[in-house]
This record gives sequence, structure tokens and C-alpha cells, in this order.
Amino acid sequence: KMEKKIAVILGDGIGPEVTQQSIKVLNAIASRFGHAFEYSYGIMGADAIDKTGNPLPDETIETCLNSDAILFGAIGHPKYDNDPTAKVRPEQGLLKLRKALQLYANIRPVTTYRALQHLSPLKAKQLEGVDFIVFRELTGGIYFGKKELSSDQQTAVDECTYTSAEIERVTRLAFKYALGRKKKLTLVDKANVLETSRLWRKVVQQIAADYPEVAVDYMFVDNAAMQIILNPAQFDVVLTENMFGDIISDEASVLSGSLGLLPSASVGNTVALFEPIHGSYPQAAGKDIANPLGSILSAAMLLDHFQLNDEAEAVRIAVDWTLANGFVSKDIDAVNNYSTTAIGDLIADHIERHANAERR
Ligand code: IPM
Ligand code: MN
Repeated sequence: KMEKKIAVILGDGIGPEVTQQSIKVLNAIASRFGHAFEYSYGIMGADAIDKTGNPLPDETIETCLNSDAILFGAIGHPKYDNDPTAKVRPEQGLLKLRKALQLYANIRPVTTYRALQHLSPLKAKQLEGVDFIVFRELTGGIYFGKKELSSDQQTAVDECTYTSAEIERVTRLAFKYALGRKKKLTLVDKANVLETSRLWRKVVQQIAADYPEVAVDYMFVDNAAMQIILNPAQFDVVLTENMFGDIISDEASVLSGSLGLLPSASVGNTVALFEPIHGSYPQAAGKDIANPLGSILSAAMLLDHFQLNDEAEAVRIAVDWTLANGFVSKDIDAVNNYSTTAIGDLIADHIERHANAERR
């Protein structure tokens, strides 16, 4: 029996409704396997700006630091996207949280499902054997460099900086994962142009010497963007810097069939955070139509992080069962679809029913 404290940040847009499904699923796991999960709630993003003026109040950081893991929904609101002069923005909350908790590695698995192959713009043949994982550096690079707008507002600067120590810690983690997988690591960079990329290559080459079993490959990001849709089965662990990782992971989600399916884990020196890779999808907020699987699969990654691997597997089996039986949301099937809540209920029920079958 395991007792764990989970901090929950519902966030903006569809964040609350998809995260509620994950909590439902985690509760089903707790009852089936006899664990106790205790939730405490914090606010962040546009929600927090509305309530406090601050996209990440200190209490939220406190709540996170006092927990064993964080489950997060989504961030962003269109009223800020359309106002380039806004000084306070929802996204600042998430960036500040990543930095405050030193969540330097963002892990984004890209899985394909046979039942969803028809949704991908790629031919089924190219999707065969696609199973890779993007390791995105999350607390450095252009996201966190000096930002400046000149006083005449005609010149803007975003600086991109990396230290070898920042590169090394995420690289070591990526190599460790590669060892447990197909033992291939591809560094995606722009070393033909960028100094930071040349430092990435140097550090990765040095660390590669400690992992002789892992085959290392170097790829420019423009080529990688093409290879991900041309021949995605070639990848195993894809390691890259912050902004390239942001871009190629959204690109890679089309292989799965929907952006709504992809989970992520952000890990570092303190408590880890789990969130779907999708955004706040404001057009769908409150309509009970969003796909909860990105969040539910993030909850499965959270269970793996607690080393509750059978529990994580039970979640994934239930998810596969919904996909194989057409219990899917609108992004997957525009005609025959189920609500966010209904899919959450079906998955929680599946987990519970399994429990009863096993007890019998
Ligand atoms: C993501 C998101 C964030 C990012 C935004 C909301 C700041 O797109 O988690 O991928 O760019 O990192
Ligand atoms: Mn993104």
C-alpha cells in the first residue's frame, strides 16, 4: 500500500475537465490496488491571473514542493494571445514553475495505435514500428534567455544560452532511457549555424563515450522535421534543446493521430510534473468534448514515476480498450464520439471491473 500526495493544477481552458478524468482514473487505481492518493490544489495561468494578478502564486509552488508529484492540466487564454503588449501572461506561470522546480527534462513518448492509423496523414506502412520518445531540455535555451524590446520598440532580442552542465544532466538521463529501449539516441540540433548547438554536440559526444552500447546519431533540426514524417520508425530516443523539442513534439503528435493523445513527464531535481502536451484548447472549454487521454496517459506516467508499474499498465490497457472499441472523443471520430466525462468513466470502470474479475 502506497500513500502519496499529489498536487493538482487544473489550469486554463480544457485543463480542468481533462484533469478531473485523470483524478477519477487515479482513484480507481487507488481502490483497485489499495493505495491512498491525497490531492491538494494549486492555481496557475490565466486562472491564477484572474484570481490574484499573478500567473504563479507562491502558495502554488509551496503546494507542489510539499507533494510527491504534480498533475497539471493546460495553460493559456486567447485574450493574451491577441494582445502582444500584455505584460503578465499565463504561460509565464508554467515557465516559472519549471524553473522553480528545476524540471530540466521533459519526456514526451510518441506511440502509435493501430486503431487510429487512419487518422494520421501518413500511410499505415510508415507508422509501422513507430515508438520513440522526445527528451526536451526544459529550463534553458531561448525560452529563458534575456528578452528585450528597445525603447523605440523597433528591435527585439531573445537570447539563447546553454551551459555544458545544463546539457549534460538532460543528456545523461536520455542515455539512461536509451539503454532501457532500442539503444539509439539522436541529437537534434542546428550545429551548422548555432554555437549553442555545437556545444550540445561536443557534450553529447563526450557523454556517449560512457554509453558504448548506445548508437548515437546527429541530425540537423530541419532534416529532423522532415525525417519525423518521412521515416519516423528510425527514431528511438530523440534528444534536443528546449524550443526545437517544443516544435518537433507537436509535429510528432500527428503520428499518433491526435495531439490530444500525447502525455508528458517533466523531471528534474525536485518533484516531477505530469501534463498532456496539448494546450488549453479554449474553443472546447466547458463543452465536455476534449480528449482526456493525453492527461490520463500522463497520470500513467505519474504512476510509473512512483514505480507503480502494474498500476500504470492497468491504465494503459484501459486506454487501449477504449480506442479499440471506438469509445473516443470528437478529435478522433467526428461522427460517433463520447464525451470527456464518459471516456473518463469508461476507463475508471474498466480498471475497477478488472479488479472484481481478479478477486473472483
Ligand atoms: C508546451 C507548451 C508550452 C511550451 C507553452 C504553453 C509555454 O507549448 O508545454 O509544449 O512552449 O513549453
Ligand atoms: Mn508546446
